[in-house]
Amino acid sequence: MKTNSILITGGLGFIGSNYIDCLRVQNPSQNIFVLDKITYAADLKALYRWKENSNINFIKGDICDGGLLLEIFTKNKIQGVVHFAAESHVDNSINGPQSFVETNIMGTFQLLEAARKTWLDENQDMKSEYKKARFHHISTDEVYGALGEKGFFTEKTAFAPNSPYSASKASSDHLVRSYYHTYGLPVVTTNCSNNFGPFQHSEKLIPTIIRKAIQEDPIPIYGTGKNIRDWLFVTDHCKAIQTVFEKGTLGEVYIVGGDNEKTNLEICTAVIKILDKQKPRLNGKSYFELITHVKDRPGHDFRYAVDASKIKKELGWLAKTSFEDALETTVLHYLRSIKTL
Ligand SMILES: NC(=O)c1ccc[n+]([C@@H]2O[C@H](COP(=O)([O-])OP(=O)(O)OC[C@H]3O[C@@H](n4cnc5c(N)ncnc54)[C@H](O)[C@@H]3O)[C@@H](O)[C@H]2O)c1
Repeated sequence: MKTNSILITGGLGFIGSNYIDCLRVQNPSQNIFVLDKITYAADLKALYRWKENSNINFIKGDICDGGLLLEIFTKNKIQGVVHFAAESHVDNSINGPQSFVETNIMGTFQLLEAARKTWLDENQDMKSEYKKARFHHISTDEVYGALGEKGFFTEKTAFAPNSPYSASKASSDHLVRSYYHTYGLPVVTTNCSNNFGPFQHSEKLIPTIIRKAIQEDPIPIYGTGKNIRDWLFVTDHCKAIQTVFEKGTLGEVYIVGGDNEKTNLEICTAVIKILDKQKPRLNGKSYFELITHVKDRPGHDFRYAVDASKIKKELGWLAKTSFEDALETTVLHYLRSIKTL
């Protein structure tokens, strides 16, 4: 499925900007409209990476602004949407849930409305010029709640979100589903596990470990550090998104993951091993001694793990990058960017 003009929401964020980096290599002539509110999580430096790409158009704006969305859709004949924009940090959702409800739920609603009003006629049929249009909603495995030691989330697992972040994402997933069943809006959804890689905001786990270590500050680990997540390199996630956007069945949900479960402590240890090699401490000791266990956060889900066999079997996607290579690439990226700050 090829679309002429594509709208990427949240394109200055971690995954959105990596996705645009992939897209501009794979599809250099595609018209890309990047809509981002430029919250604290946006990385304006991404615009420098794209400055040679005259087909990448940046619009500063809020996905909650229905009038703006309608103008963007109609003026640019938007045929595809990849919707990344969100408040994405669980800790922030505990301290201030309102913006999560506004952006993740109301923003997604406004975006669906803009697509519906632009793509469908009064009989709820797709207008002929938008027959190939598609709305791809990016979501998270956190909507499924927490697992014990065993088992995996599948696309059939019932939602059981435990934080305001995951609850707002679950709500947005439901809205997207309802627009397919009620109006026939051409939607697909992907629910992915934890991403890591270049250009992630410094508040997230891996950038925090690196930053604290380099500053010789305590490296904070929640509770025992035994909480388990599945980790996926962001480039592999971007390829999964492109696969589903092009080949996924409308109305379907695809879980995406790396078959790579790690405790937070294992992630921390793996990062520290690379740091000890690439940037040894002046005192000759390992950064390991900086690890400090801090009070666990409320509602901290014990384990997420996903069964991504549907996307593999039906669409032929596979995570190709080894965890070790991807982590080394990631750590080297942050060491370089800390140097240039
Ligand atoms: N990071 C992960 O590990 C992960 C895993 C699975 C799913 N996801 C989902 O992927 C998406 C992207 O995550 P991320 O880690 O890149 O997030 P991020 O926080 O790095 O980036 C979010 C971007 O959205 C923009 N934004 C926020 N509110 C907006 C609004 N109202 N209008 C327009 N733009 C707005 C921000 O300015 C920022 O550029 C999110 O929907 C998230 O739920 C993330």
